Amino acid sequence: MAGGRIELVALSKRFHEIAVDNIDLQIASGEFFSLLGPSGCGKTTTLRLIAGFEQPTTGRILLDGADVSAVPPHKRNVNTVFQSYALFPFLTVYDNVAFGLRNRKLPKGEMDRMVRSSLDLVKLGAFAKRRPGQLSGGQQQRVALARALVLQPSVLLLDEPLGALDAKLRRSLKVELKALQEQVGITFLYVTHDQEEALTMSDRLAVMRDGKIVQLGPPTEVYEEPADTYVADFLGVSNLMEVDVVERGPGSHCRVRLGDAVLSVEHGGQDTPDRAHAVIRPERVRIEEFGSAGENRVPAMVERLVYLGSSTQVFLRLAAGADLQVLLQNDGGQENLAQGTPVSAYLAPDAVRVLSGGTPAADPTAVGGDDAGFDLGRSSASAAAS
Ligand SMILES: Nc1ncnc2c1ncn2[C@@H]1O[C@H](COP(=O)(O)OP(=O)(O)O)[C@@H](O)[C@H]1O
Ligand SMILES: [Mg+2]
Repeated sequence: MAGGRIELVALSKRFHEIAVDNIDLQIASGEFFSLLGPSGCGKTTTLRLIAGFEQPTTGRILLDGADVSAVPPHKRNVNTVFQSYALFPFLTVYDNVAFGLRNRKLPKGEMDRMVRSSLDLVKLGAFAKRRPGQLSGGQQQRVALARALVLQPSVLLLDEPLGALDAKLRRSLKVELKALQEQVGITFLYVTHDQEEALTMSDRLAVMRDGKIVQLGPPTEVYEEPADTYVADFLGVSNLMEVDVVERGPGSHCRVRLGDAVLSVEHGGQDTPDRAHAVIRPERVRIEEFGSAGENRVPAMVERLVYLGSSTQVFLRLAAGADLQVLLQNDGGQENLAQGTPVSAYLAPDAVRVLSGGTPAADPTAVGGDDAGFDLGRSSASAAAS
């Protein structure tokens, strides 16, 4: 099966308000591409436009180079997997998967072969005779996946397909889904508000906000080099510190003032206003003994410790007033930190980025902050920890 190419050209959809706002996007054959963003940013609408369930207000959609605007959904070589699996409860797993093939008038043997091979793909070969009610949520979602794959679409659209499953199941299905996609070679367009899903599975991803794409690139690039504070925050940066840019250059280097300290920063600051945000990921902050010497060290106090099993979250309060979250791996190497301990936080120049863009992610629930009681300015505390 060859994957289809998707091209969105100046695509917009307006209901009462604009839902998809002038999107240009090209997705390659066989690519695993994700749309990532908070609830309401236009992800589902984009998928429904591609599937043909909605008509664009303006713009075009091309599949393998052909404009499909006038092609009805069932004639587009595209299939969708939703968060709710919508299986027929009274049909067996086998018949649920075979259902879509019924009106294709295939020879019986051919149909049987296709159903069995797609059940094998999702590792449900042994469950063909069961009914959906006799399956776990994860297994039901696999049936939904098999039901979509059996039609041999060139593009599979997946709308938060793991959203209804528990965390552990999500983790294992994530790995399987990626392996499956590589095996079948179908183009996957995956929609999620879960940054971890998007980061682990995608070849490339686009971060959306208010119907627009704000950044597009491979996961490492979007994670390591967020374009602005919105992307940084949505991708799980918990530390946004207000700083003043006091010196720009040379190159991408700059110096910023954070309280009494002046930090040397290797990335950003060229195009930002003087009042900007410095970001550092929790896993990049180093906690050192109080008073340790050298640049980019700021005095801090341990305010709270949260044990997470494989790691510990440390909440620091900087003398400058800002809060800083640190993630320490519990590898046995670290000393015992206690609440109230004065320490020194080392913010390495290559770990800090200065970004513009005032508004952080719009929907804090979408990044799963379960630490709302601790005011970290703009925090998405659990994102880095989950
Ligand atoms: N059928 C519809 N009628 C009116 N407004 C809609 C409809 N579908 C979506 N919207 C609006 O469009 C925006 C984007 O929604 P949606 O694409 O579902 O976002 P997401 O999938 O990212 O959560 C939201 O403001 C939503 O309320
Ligand atoms: Mg949606």
